[in-house]
Amino acid sequence: MAPGKYYLTTAIDYGNAPPHIGHAYEKIAADAVARFHRLRGDEVFFLTGLDEHGNKIERAAQAAGVEPQAYVDEVAARAQQVWGALNISYDGFIRTTDPRHRAAVQGIFARLLAQDDIFKAKYEGMYCRGCEEFKNERDLTDGKICPQHQQPVEFTSEENYVFRLSKYRERLRGHIESHPQFLQPETRRNEILNLLETFPDLSVSRQSVRWGIPVPGDPSQVIYVWIDALSNYLTGIGYGWDDAQFQRWWPADLHLVGKDITKFHAIIWPALLLALDIPLPYQVYGHGFINMAGMKISKTVGNVIDPQDIAAEYGADAIRYFVLREIAFGRDGDFTYETFEARVNADLANNLGNALNRTLTILEKNFAGQVSPRHAAIEGELPRLAEETVAKVVERMEAMALDEAIAAIWTLLDAVNKYIDSTAPWALAKEGKLDELGGVLYAVLEALRIAAILASPYIPTLAAKLWEQLGITTPLAEQRWEALAWGGLAPGTVTRKLGPLYPRIGAELAGAKKKG
Ligand code: MSP
Repeated sequence: MAPGKYYLTTAIDYGNAPPHIGHAYEKIAADAVARFHRLRGDEVFFLTGLDEHGNKIERAAQAAGVEPQAYVDEVAARAQQVWGALNISYDGFIRTTDPRHRAAVQGIFARLLAQDDIFKAKYEGMYCRGCEEFKNERDLTDGKICPQHQQPVEFTSEENYVFRLSKYRERLRGHIESHPQFLQPETRRNEILNLLETFPDLSVSRQSVRWGIPVPGDPSQVIYVWIDALSNYLTGIGYGWDDAQFQRWWPADLHLVGKDITKFHAIIWPALLLALDIPLPYQVYGHGFINMAGMKISKTVGNVIDPQDIAAEYGADAIRYFVLREIAFGRDGDFTYETFEARVNADLANNLGNALNRTLTILEKNFAGQVSPRHAAIEGELPRLAEETVAKVVERMEAMALDEAIAAIWTLLDAVNKYIDSTAPWALAKEGKLDELGGVLYAVLEALRIAAILASPYIPTLAAKLWEQLGITTPLAEQRWEALAWGGLAPGTVTRKLGPLYPRIGAELAGAKKKG
């Protein structure tokens, strides 16, 4: 794949509360993909942001006793702080209350109205205030309870603006069927194709909501959140306010969203784009959910954990590594402090940290920390394994199997540790076989150099620390794919032993957490 441009987005979270670990999971995954593409030499635009309109937000502001705008300003600041703490390298943060976004959304609505893709009609049905959505009876518990909000739906009758989604159904089905990459993972495709069959024309305005973008020419209604929210993917890169920038980045290469909103992204969004005559994104990927010890994350259950707290306590990379490595990407996964601690201790403290530490200690004692020349004859499997790992990482990342890409890097690290055990450098030192010893240490450090580059999208801070200890002076952030060829470590490089890369999480610490 030749380097090119890569535009990816996450869902924009509702601005009713600061992000929790589930929202963080999505942003971490998107960040890993963004960093991976930068490493490969692509020009990347990574967009995230906040979805700030609708009743949910108005109610939260009311409960806090502040105006909705002041409320979302606060949540937006907080969200950006959390993303900063987790090293989320976004290029744009779109807020739906941004005047440029509001104007562009009104423009989109007006255009759809003018071309009769939106029309006014009486819209009635069972309405869930939590979802701000009309519901099909078959999706309700006992025909009247919203399963998501556990509250009864209300019969509602409104004059609404309606989007003729049905007009685009056939084209959309054709697109999904003939572009297997468009909707991933595979498991969500059939479900969406089935849904599409009966997906109704869609109410796209609300009379009962005040906190939103007014319908152009009809201020008694606001534009319903999905047209408002989905349009962020266009307005966040200039649509309506910087056409050159928009043309440069669109179409999106990846919309990464949770499985709960995949249908909006795989049905409503492409139908809107077809109506607007805008090319469709390359891929919509619906990731799974994180649960807390098997339970859904919820305020009522009281199991919401603040990602920033975890980052402050264990380091951003520990939580990044855990969620990316532990959860099979595309499936649901679970967070518990026990599995978190075990995974981080085994992979970061032991596997990665010890390989480096042991090697630098011997290098310091025998060569004053200086890297010896390469000794190809004694490198064994390592060069071949490193090369295979690079290929595997690319292949797995292109398939969005993030966890498997990481697993491949740790397989290489396993081999490095085995290589250390079997070549026994401490014995070589004792026997005075310095030529051989230098070669062994070179091989280990070279494999670690490659692992640092490969791991940098997932654990950027630890990878940079590893890099620093290797003593390489050109920054890790400047490395590109070519740097992954075996033999790149220059003999004579002076390493810098700076102590354990990642100290083991102590038993007392996790014990305290478990108790709450
Ligand atoms: N505002 C809408 C999205 C509009 S996108 C044009 C929304 N917001 S949300 O705050 O409810 O969710 C934001 C994202 O976080 C969604 O992709 C959602 O799937 C994801 N997650 C929310 N809880 C989650 C978990 N427990 N685990 C993983 N992702 C989760 O929907």
